[in-house]
Amino acid sequence: MKRLKIFQSKQELREWRENLGGSLGFVPTMGALHAGHLSLAQKSLEQNTHTLFSIFVNPTQFGANEDFDKYPKTLDKDIQLAQSIGVDAIFAPNISEMYEDSDPITLNPPKLMGSVYEGSHREGHFAGVLQIVLKLLMLTQAKYAYFGRKDAQQLLLIQKMVKDFFIPTQIIPCPIVRDIDGLALSSRNIYLTQKERQDALQIPQTLQWIQESFLQGERDTHKLRTLALERLDKVKVDYLAFCDHSLQELPSILPSQTLVLLTAKVGNTRLLDNLWL
Ligand code: PAJ
Repeated sequence: MKRLKIFQSKQELREWRENLGGSLGFVPTMGALHAGHLSLAQKSLEQNTHTLFSIFVNPTQFGANEDFDKYPKTLDKDIQLAQSIGVDAIFAPNISEMYEDSDPITLNPPKLMGSVYEGSHREGHFAGVLQIVLKLLMLTQAKYAYFGRKDAQQLLLIQKMVKDFFIPTQIIPCPIVRDIDGLALSSRNIYLTQKERQDALQIPQTLQWIQESFLQGERDTHKLRTLALERLDKVKVDYLAFCDHSLQELPSILPSQTLVLLTAKVGNTRLLDNLWL
């Protein structure tokens, strides 16, 4: 079994990176690792000579009233999990290591794709995500970086950033991993009470109903949306949208080009899920 390396400074990471032969696959995370994160690393392990996780709860992507302070931190367990699947290294910097300058250059997300859905519900969120992902991609110089389809808008914006800025890393989208009851795995699921978790199952169940209706030939998004919202009576829906990969709303489903985005609050917890049709 390989010994897992843990780097806290950019310098240690750079020195390790400089001496690596073969390809590096990179999996950026905020820690509290679960099987969704591990599936991205598994994919990287299959495709690369070396695999690196980053674990960094990035303050710039959290709004003032969000859960930055109470975001789950389980570094010891994360290290054990990473070691158990054969990951080579973890980069776990502290905040000052990633944000040295008090007047940094920031990124503006694109006007159309960045201002809708999560962009309108979480002011400044994607500017923070793009900022940290750009820093991490520059530092790691990875050949491939792995992102979950679970955070669909984040994935599409990162793919766009890589394309717009000619970043040499290739982004690999990975499938959503679910718990046995169907709920998409998320580090935030631990906030749910038993009753809330039961209610939250309406989210994957409704997406599954949309998928079945699509497979039976239904294409009308207005009709699907209206019927789906009726099924979501135990959660507070933020948005349910049928859109293409540029996040433009679609009046009817275009097979292989349609994304169904569903975000809802259950108690105080906001849950994101989606379906790629
Ligand atoms: P985090 O929420 O920790 O997620 C890290 C990666 O794991 C993301 O690419 C996310 O889409 C993926 N992921 C989470 N749950 C998943 C699931 N159930 N199935 C498949 N993939 C899943 O997303 C972030 O962190 C941050 O915004 C980050 C990109 C690290 C920048 O700070």
